[in-house]
Amino acid sequence: MEQLMRNFFLFLAKNKSLTNLAKRYGLRFGAGRFVAGATLESSITAIKRLNEKGMPVTIDHLGEFVDNEREAAEMTQHCIDAIKAISKEKLDSQLSLKMTSMGLDISDELVLSNMRKIMDAATKHNVFITIDMEDYSRCEKTLEIFKMLKSEYDNISTVIQAYLYRSLEDVQTLDEYHPNLRLVKGAYKEPQTVAYPEKSDVDNNFKKLIETHLLNGNYTAIATHDDEIIQYTKDLVEKHKIPYDQFEFQMLYGIRVERQDQLMQEGYKMRIYVPYGNDWYGYFMRRLAERPANVVFVLKGVFGK
Ligand code: FDA
Repeated sequence: MEQLMRNFFLFLAKNKSLTNLAKRYGLRFGAGRFVAGATLESSITAIKRLNEKGMPVTIDHLGEFVDNEREAAEMTQHCIDAIKAISKEKLDSQLSLKMTSMGLDISDELVLSNMRKIMDAATKHNVFITIDMEDYSRCEKTLEIFKMLKSEYDNISTVIQAYLYRSLEDVQTLDEYHPNLRLVKGAYKEPQTVAYPEKSDVDNNFKKLIETHLLNGNYTAIATHDDEIIQYTKDLVEKHKIPYDQFEFQMLYGIRVERQDQLMQEGYKMRIYVPYGNDWYGYFMRRLAERPANVVFVLKGVFGK
């Protein structure tokens, strides 16, 4: 049943008509629990509250699957404005983005030119950028562009998904760039031909990725809500005397908030991924797919209980 629900929400996440409809109606159905606000301005209070608690954030202007140059230019400008706002408001914040918003599906020239505009602004304002990883069909191109940008700019990282068979090799290949990487389980619906179908295999691969990247001496963001993976990281760090400034934990805004506080109080760096914007629909559906129990929040949102 849970697998059925998961597939259903991942199917809904890809629906363009529903995405467009959702944009017009603002944050609905309990999405406000996972999305900080419809605009950056309305999210700044939530971001400052996290910073004041001692938690750095990475903000993400929601949006994906852009298929024309005009929209890609708008999304690029949004990122540049967000970088300026981080600097002006003195937020302890990085920026995460999806390259399909910058024209990844349109052409290499377009996405590279938009990314360089963003990276120039980020370098000027001293803001760190992470390229989120999208579905498998975009993985190779995302890594190619990441490598190109990483040889031009230092303040950039990307994401590796533990559910993909290829990921351990990617972490090893990327090592020559000494990259800061965010490691995650992976949030998209992928076929067995490219991704582990069993959770236990994904978890084992996640552990291998963490160990490999940390022991290679690289900065590692362990982005998970899973206690077993968190404990594995703590033990590994203890065993190999890895300094606390070589890694951080990351969690999503609104998910396992008490655990976030606890890890911070234990002395670990805990960064919160804070999404904002009116294109919240796909992101929200993927969070429901991860934990269908959250449907209860949606129903409360719909029926106002
Ligand atoms: P898992 O899903 O196994 O959950 C472990 C436990 O955490 C659950 O048993 C439950 O207790 C709790 N939990 C998990 N999800 C919850 C929820 N929605 N609500 C309440 N409790 C929940 N993916 C991707 O493909 N590309 C990317 O770029 C990113 N980026 C990214 C950044 C950050 C900061 C995070 C935390 C995650 C991502 N992800 C991602 C998403 C990631 O791939 C994955 O889908 C989610 O993190 C869920 O997997 P967990 O590792 O949390 O474990």
